Amino acid sequence: MKVAVIGSGGREHAITWKISQSDICEKVYTIPGNGGTPNNVPLDIMDFKSIRDFCEKKGVDLLIVGPEVPLAAGITDYFLGSTVKVFGPDQRGAILESSKIQAKKFMQKYDVASAEFKEFILRTDQDKIESYIKELNGKVVVKYDGLAAGKGVFVCDQSAQALEAIEQIKSIYGLDSEVLIEEKLTGVELSIIGITDGKTIKLLLPSQDHKQLLDQDRGPNTGGMGAYCPVPFCDQTLMEQIKQTIIDPTIKGIDKEGFHYIGVVYFGLMITATGPKVLEYNVRLGDPETEVILPALKSDLLEVMNSSFNGTLSKYELEFHQDYFLDVVLVAGGYPGNYKKGLEISGLQTTDSLIFHAGTRSENGKIYTNGGRVLNVVGRGKTLHEAIVNTYSNLNKIRFKDVYYRRDIGKRNNRV
Ligand code: AMP
Ligand code: GLY
Repeated sequence: MKVAVIGSGGREHAITWKISQSDICEKVYTIPGNGGTPNNVPLDIMDFKSIRDFCEKKGVDLLIVGPEVPLAAGITDYFLGSTVKVFGPDQRGAILESSKIQAKKFMQKYDVASAEFKEFILRTDQDKIESYIKELNGKVVVKYDGLAAGKGVFVCDQSAQALEAIEQIKSIYGLDSEVLIEEKLTGVELSIIGITDGKTIKLLLPSQDHKQLLDQDRGPNTGGMGAYCPVPFCDQTLMEQIKQTIIDPTIKGIDKEGFHYIGVVYFGLMITATGPKVLEYNVRLGDPETEVILPALKSDLLEVMNSSFNGTLSKYELEFHQDYFLDVVLVAGGYPGNYKKGLEISGLQTTDSLIFHAGTRSENGKIYTNGGRVLNVVGRGKTLHEAIVNTYSNLNKIRFKDVYYRRDIGKRNNRV
């Protein structure tokens, strides 16, 4: 098979790495890719016509869409009738990520465990907004309705903070935008990611992201500073509860709604004292979770994806390596604020770790930084502790000016 992967992050490098190992894979292209990905094709990920022309001309059999933006804009619908199969939901299915309000309505309709909420239009609902924030004692999360690359969510503890969040959303997105206000949940976050054909789902290993810049989950939010899998506290009892109260009703809903949904469902969960609840759905693989859950997958990813197109996914049993996997993200100094690009990276050949490139580019055989999140260094071990030691002992061989990374990936206190 010939495969093309859309995207340019660590997630897409991990996907191309895993797909390339398949016995049935003949060639993998990356659109547009980064300094580590194979066969980069410099096309805009939103230029569906050029992507379709390219795939059809090269005889690509399967197009895997990494990021959410092309899915939300309907890339899967655009390929209907093409010889190229697209791994990723249609635009209707992608609404589970592209509209936080529609996602909550879906959860309500299908009885998926999640936080209490109300929706509002900023222009007309100021009074209602104020009274709902008061009702919840200011312990709310205010969310802009549309895609916002993680910047439209405000977690608040006090009413004043929540009202300030409303003002910010007004000034960034305008008075006609809609917001979701939901109950602030407390607990431990967990990412559950599965591959679905719209009727059944096969889960990859549970993983945990580390979103804040600084150790002990302090500092500003980022695109992800590290991840690991599996997660020790996610035992069979918890998994069963997650299946019954979240995963099964979600898949039933996807089927009932008639979404054309062959792709990934990502459940961003909060494990609270009263059970697991959904914080968000994503309709694609998580980053940096993918950089650990794909190395942990023993099964052939391309075969699994194929089975989701030919109706045999329900019979497929995924196999996993018995080890723990840990990913530490190396970022450019200054990220997520201003940072430099174009710094030469050295030491990439000297480590035994698996490296997934993110913000890098390759030029004349050298690799340079080209973004804020630069590299993912992935190690493994028989225990989580061993995975941590193995990953961190390889890290300092890789150098570029002002490199920064968290020292505590995998060491979170996961008490609910
Ligand atoms: P979202 O994009 O909806 O996942 O929100 C981004 C982040 O905000 C999540 O990963 C959580 O850390 C936090 N968050 C979202 N919703 C809630 C909630 N209801 N209670 C507490 N934290 C939340
Ligand atoms: N790791 C969070 C996300 O991919 O949205």
